[in-house]
Amino acid sequence: MQTAPIKPIKPWFQTIEDIGPHIDWSTYFGQQAPVELDIGCGRGLFLFNAAVMNPQTNFLGIEIDYREGRRTATRLMKRDLPNGRVIGGDCRVILRDMITPHSVSAAHVYFPDPWWKKRHHKRRLFTDEFAALLSQILIPGGLLHSWTDVADYFDIVRSLMDHHPDFEVLAPPEERPAEHDLDYQTSFERKKRKLGCPIYRGLWKRRPLDTQLSPSN
Ligand SMILES: C[S@@+](CC[C@H](N)C(=O)[O-])C[C@H]1O[C@@H](n2cnc3c(N)ncnc32)[C@H](O)[C@@H]1O
Repeated sequence: MQTAPIKPIKPWFQTIEDIGPHIDWSTYFGQQAPVELDIGCGRGLFLFNAAVMNPQTNFLGIEIDYREGRRTATRLMKRDLPNGRVIGGDCRVILRDMITPHSVSAAHVYFPDPWWKKRHHKRRLFTDEFAALLSQILIPGGLLHSWTDVADYFDIVRSLMDHHPDFEVLAPPEERPAEHDLDYQTSFERKKRKLGCPIYRGLWKRRPLDTQLSPSN
């Protein structure tokens, strides 16, 4: 019996170690296009749909859980999508060390883990340092989308972003009824909305580099 050759998962999934110290976007994707990040992409519902629907944009998922990252990358690979990739690793390292400042058009951070226990708080993504990293990587006019079902966590996100001198608050999209079973932004949104949980949505825009407000404004 003949078996189909197994396709290597590279370049759809690579780890930080595979990539090296710095990502050159046009070499990495093989096409020059705006770049959007799905930070903590999980099962990749957003990443996959976004890459299919927007071939003129490059989408990078970042996922610390390699198993989830590989699963998402396998879906991208099966469709042979040139504009969807996943890097396995800690997004904070990737944002801090590997991404050219002001080279990303949008960052999507959907349903970041809340890390309820006090001893785990330092694993939470949204901190002053993370907000500074978002400010560093986004282009002027670049967007941060972040949604969660955890009201307390959303308060933390808003307290960091709403008064951040480098960001302007925009109106987030309104919730609309799902038209089919996969008509959700992410797997977590689907799960939480089916449980009847409210979803808190935030949208912020990176200010132009030369017109930042001072923190006292
Ligand atoms: C609650 S899940 C949400 C997944 C997806 N965004 C969604 O909405 O369905 C949070 C994801 O963030 C990932 N994650 C947590 N900390 C991370 C980090 N420092 N770097 C990259 N991914 C991280 C987790 O492994 C997990 O897959």
